[in-house]
Amino acid sequence: MIPEISFVLDGSIVTIDFTKPSSRGPTTTVLNYLRSLPGHKGVKEGCAEGDCGACTVVLGELVGNKSIRYKSADSCLLFLPMIHGRQLITVENLKDPSGELHPVQSAMVESSGSQCGFCTPGIVMSLFSLYKSTDHPTRLQIDDALTGNLCRCTGYKPIIEAAAHACVHKGLDHLSRDYSRIVGLLKSIPQAPIHIKTKLQSYFKPTSLSAVFSHRRQHPDAVIVSGATDVALRVTKKHELIPEIIDLSDIAELKAITNTATTLTIGAGVTLTEAMPRIEHDFPALYKMLSVFGSQQIRNLATFGGNLGSASPIGDALPVLMAYGAKVVLKRPNGKRDVSLDDYFLGYRKTARAANELITAIVIPKLKNGAAVRSYKISKRKDLDISTLSGGFRLDAKNSGTVKNIVLAYGGMAERTKRATTAEQFLVGKQWNRQTVERAMPLIDKDFTPISDARAGAEFRKVAARNLLLKFWTDTVMNE
Ligand SMILES: Cc1cc2nc3c(=O)[nH]c(=O)nc-3n(C[C@H](O)[C@H](O)[C@H](O)COP(=O)(O)OP(=O)(O)OC[C@H]3O[C@@H](n4cnc5c(N)ncnc54)[C@H](O)[C@@H]3O)c2cc1C
Ligand code: FES
Ligand code: FES
Repeated sequence: MIPEISFVLDGSIVTIDFTKPSSRGPTTTVLNYLRSLPGHKGVKEGCAEGDCGACTVVLGELVGNKSIRYKSADSCLLFLPMIHGRQLITVENLKDPSGELHPVQSAMVESSGSQCGFCTPGIVMSLFSLYKSTDHPTRLQIDDALTGNLCRCTGYKPIIEAAAHACVHKGLDHLSRDYSRIVGLLKSIPQAPIHIKTKLQSYFKPTSLSAVFSHRRQHPDAVIVSGATDVALRVTKKHELIPEIIDLSDIAELKAITNTATTLTIGAGVTLTEAMPRIEHDFPALYKMLSVFGSQQIRNLATFGGNLGSASPIGDALPVLMAYGAKVVLKRPNGKRDVSLDDYFLGYRKTARAANELITAIVIPKLKNGAAVRSYKISKRKDLDISTLSGGFRLDAKNSGTVKNIVLAYGGMAERTKRATTAEQFLVGKQWNRQTVERAMPLIDKDFTPISDARAGAEFRKVAARNLLLKFWTDTVMNE
């Protein structure tokens, strides 16, 4: 195990040896690291919780030893060991060495895309990530690339114009000229297991599941992290010093996606961004939910393992996964079991996962003929917002129009993701028509006592939950 991390910054390999005295520890965020360097003050801290995008950087990751994939990320949510083996690109790296601005920077100047300028470096980095990944982006792709960046004064029209003007060069820029050399540098960084030990902290970044189980045996209280989009807030907002961490982000076994005729199995460490193109065709309701999940910066880090691991009552992937009849794969050192999502959630952030088990994958069965699944998220804003409530619904109907089976799974209505079983039981065997659905709607109240909080009152939640069932009926009928 190596006690240090290496990554590429400013065109060279940088190594941080945590055994040497310094103020940096393994949970120092990349944002704080960059801001401690004289040449990287362009990265800004706005919220330190992934909401504003002022800290956006781009990470370059080797794909198949030959090419680099660029993805935007909120540096306030990245612990330093998470960038081991990657290229870290900041706004300072975008200018051509000859002094010429990058095409996305020039377009921002030409379209007057900046006023006070606080958000601008983050916005430029999101546009750079779009520039490298998409030629001639659609308006939808531009909006999606900018969802994680807040601008309070300029307004988005000129920024969107800048994106449309700039992203037409097939991703070619001065970084492309240095591409092969950077690939060589990234390949030269050893992908060995890491153990960083400081006076106060121990951070393990193993490369195999067997090593994870061995660390867990020796450090049962260690906090597991995958994308850290939940866990990082304990450090940045609660100022916790987490003594022991096991980071799963470099475990190849957790990153596999397996597609068969009947199921799709997604590794717990697959990011939502990586999963989206693989689910779009067979699981459109899950895809729809993920497209309003956080922002690109969040989805580039967040994993299914993390969403299931935090088991939040407003975890957005959970109701729709329940509607698809998904199972969680739980592995322990000497075995594994598949647990249906119906049996997985036990209470507030309480699950059936035993202390020695890890989530290793989620298995989603493909729909049989005649089944319909839909997902709904109700939040104050469409994008980058926490659900007030959400729904994942499934209907299996007979040819006669009779309900054979129905799943009405809700988030934000109870202490856990939960099904409206009374309404479901009422609907089974009945005709799927408006009259029956209207009779089922009040029955949803029987299974939930929602709370009032800053997002909505209990009564709003009840009414919205009932109306979502009506919307589901309308959607299934409209699509027939
Ligand atoms: C700005 C912002 C926006 C967000 N928007 C949304 C949203 O729209 N919808 C939504 O549902 N959530 C949202 N989240 C919450 C978060 O992104 C998700 O819950 C995400 O799926 C967590 O994944 P992660 O890999 O980052 O988890 P981590 O932070 O790494 O881990 C989360 C929890 O899961 C546990 N865990 C992780 N992997 C495993 C594993 N393999 N086995 C067992 N336990 C494990 C960890 O110990 C931890 O308790 C948002 C967060 C932020 C900061
Ligand atoms: S500082 Fe706001 S997203 Fe990182
Ligand atoms: S230019 Fe001021 S916040 Fe965007």
